[in-house]
Amino acid sequence: LPQSFKISVAGTGYVGLVAGVCFAEVGHQVTCVDIDKDKIDMLKQGISPIYEADLEELMRKNYAAGRLTFTTDHVRAYKDADAIFIGVGTPEQPDGSANLSHIATVARQIAEAIEKDCLVVVKSTVPVGTNDKVEQFIHDFLVHDVIVEVASNPEFLAQGTAVRDTLEAARIIIGTESRWAEAMLMKIYEPFNLPIVSVSRRSAEMIKYASNDFLALKISYMNDIANLCELVGADIQDVARGMSFDERIGSKFLSAGIGYGGSCFPKDTKALAYLARQHGYNLRTVHAAVEVNNDQKTLLYKKASNRLITFDGLKVAVLGLTFKPGTDDLREAPSLANIPLLLERGAKVYAYDPVGRANFSQMYPEGEYNIKYVDRPEEGLIGANVCFIFTEWDEIKAVQPADYVALMRTPLVYDGRNIYEITEMQDAGVEYYSIGRAAVVSKDVKTGSARKSGHRQIIA
Ligand code: UDX
Repeated sequence: LPQSFKISVAGTGYVGLVAGVCFAEVGHQVTCVDIDKDKIDMLKQGISPIYEADLEELMRKNYAAGRLTFTTDHVRAYKDADAIFIGVGTPEQPDGSANLSHIATVARQIAEAIEKDCLVVVKSTVPVGTNDKVEQFIHDFLVHDVIVEVASNPEFLAQGTAVRDTLEAARIIIGTESRWAEAMLMKIYEPFNLPIVSVSRRSAEMIKYASNDFLALKISYMNDIANLCELVGADIQDVARGMSFDERIGSKFLSAGIGYGGSCFPKDTKALAYLARQHGYNLRTVHAAVEVNNDQKTLLYKKASNRLITFDGLKVAVLGLTFKPGTDDLREAPSLANIPLLLERGAKVYAYDPVGRANFSQMYPEGEYNIKYVDRPEEGLIGANVCFIFTEWDEIKAVQPADYVALMRTPLVYDGRNIYEITEMQDAGVEYYSIGRAAVVSKDVKTGSARKSGHRQIIA
């Protein structure tokens, strides 16, 4: 087998684009294909349609070196490729199942275009057993007399660290049904110099769901424990720290908060539960993770509703819109669960996010909704009655406890990411609620006496 392969990648979203750029970076000849002409034009100009560290730089470098090209012409891209990677979306449908129409479209295009033996590699997350059907589908529509096989190669990158996650992945999972396919994928990944786990196609498909759902479960478990910590007077951060030293538990993904969002965990939990149901099995642990996460997202809103009587006419500062820092993605973000509720209840929302603002304002434009987007977190705090923190961006962490007291009309803060020490908020005189930790409540709330800033107590 050669050292460098002719690889085409279908789909220039997160999965496809990052894979294409990284394959080019290690020396393969890569063509990225998309039906969206505007996107392809942008990519040719060296502009990445997604916000991702290092991606643009590597993209431009490999494009200039001639190892990376972009096209809407799928026939030319596929006909003589050694391998075609599919990285198109598999969005969630209302019933929780995955929509496979994009995969089917690409599979048919491949079947009609290829003129030489080819390995088709599915990177998109698909229900277990799908790749058997994709292979059958391609065989059914094949035009030329060639050998084509389908392999599974799930993607584990996280948004914001996609390039690093790919070039320095913890492991490469390859699922194949023949020695030829296995050897070819091994060779393609050889220059990455990473651990490769070679299994059957169905096991590979399952590894993806089992891994993502385990992490979602880990987060929901910590959120569940956090809620209990509040009730019994324990502190979730101390509890997590104590747990983390046990290597069997590990130190990652132990942060309680207002729930996981993004494109993977919410979708993959529901998809696996759906798959189980199709087979007559009730995947109870995963259902529980989904349920906890749904409740967690609006936990602070509910707490604030109890505390404030009404949101009508209140100025509400919202710090953080994206589902996590380092991305402009809003999918399943807690902000999207809370801001509509606040607007419905008559609040005037002042929203801050260093990169998510453009996407959010497309959904909630300033003129149409009672919302204003601000350039700095402090700007949103001026005169605010209450502040919600939804994303732990560095720019938001930089806001000092004293700033809330100085700028807000009433320093009432609901922190969904536990970015402050309780004591520093107490010392500054902020009424502070976070996740799984004692609340810093102002005296007047407890006793009904007149409010005086600086007189705030920690109550468990
Ligand atoms: C995730 C997986 O990490 C990745 O391997 C998979 O391929 C796709 O899904 P991503 O969705 O980009 O990646 O983000 P990740 O950093 O994993 O965070 C997911 C969500 O969990 C975020 O909303 C984050 O805020 C939340 N989270 C994460 C917690 O609430 N607590 C934690 O301890 C960790």
